Amino acid sequence: MELPNGGVTKPESQSKERLAIFELAHMISVPMSLVAIIKLKVPQTIWQEGSNTPLSASEIITRVHPHGSADPHNLQRMLRLLTSFNIFVEHLNPNGERKYTLTDIGKTLVDDDEGLSYAYYMLQHHEDALINTWPFVAEAVEDPTTVPFKKANGDGAMSYYSKRPNMINLFGKAMRSVSVPFMREMLENYDGFNGVESLVDVGGNYGDCLEMIMQRYPNIRKGINFDLPHVVAHAPPLPGSLVPISFLVMDMASSIFKSDWGVCVLVMAFG
Ligand SMILES: C[S@@+](CC[C@H](N)C(=O)[O-])C[C@H]1O[C@@H](n2cnc3c(N)ncnc32)[C@H](O)[C@@H]1O
Repeated sequence: MELPNGGVTKPESQSKERLAIFELAHMISVPMSLVAIIKLKVPQTIWQEGSNTPLSASEIITRVHPHGSADPHNLQRMLRLLTSFNIFVEHLNPNGERKYTLTDIGKTLVDDDEGLSYAYYMLQHHEDALINTWPFVAEAVEDPTTVPFKKANGDGAMSYYSKRPNMINLFGKAMRSVSVPFMREMLENYDGFNGVESLVDVGGNYGDCLEMIMQRYPNIRKGINFDLPHVVAHAPPLPGSLVPISFLVMDMASSIFKSDWGVCVLVMAFG
């Protein structure tokens, strides 16, 4: 471009900006690789009940697919990618061999003593029905009359799940894996349930959070967990629970709780 004084500027390089978009364009490789290594049982293979032993891609393959023709090179590419996102630590041996252990973030993908881990949340959020929904997001702007999930799958999310027990089970496990540690920490720092006598958890899934609150606050004599029929029907008995929780079927979309926000996670207390 010619300047008024006759000088010439160089075109802006924009190389950093282009690189930023390039990274965004490939961002999908991160969650999809994470889902792949969970499906391949890589985190628990490395963790080995606490030893967190450095393993190469070939050693992992030997453990998870002892008789197969699985490809360690493809696994190593995912391990390296996820190392750069702080899931694994890479240990480079003098002979050039790369081995991997889990970081603290990676460890959240391994079942804890209660059988909970964030792996279930990752898997649930990347089930085919949800992945197939994303291409309809632009239409949510152009034509918001039908939600993207329904456009992609022909049914609303909750109704779709209710007909698929495997999805309900994974959903329940994913919710539990996220909510139980969250509630444990919340109860360490929040004392707002003092003086509450009965408590309603709206959309409380299997009732874990309600149970945890009631165990901490014996002043709550009555707990009510509202959720959809198929969730209440599948709610497992709360292990060792001594607190009185009633499970009630409710569809907040067609009741007094109807709101523009649809589903939200909330706990309502009636003193
Ligand atoms: C994001 S999950 C949260 C579960 C639980 N509160 C927790 O923190 O683990 C939302 C919950 O709302 C329930 N839900 C969704 N739509 C509902 C509706 N229309 N009426 C009642 N519950 C509903 C789901 O079944 C699910 O258990």
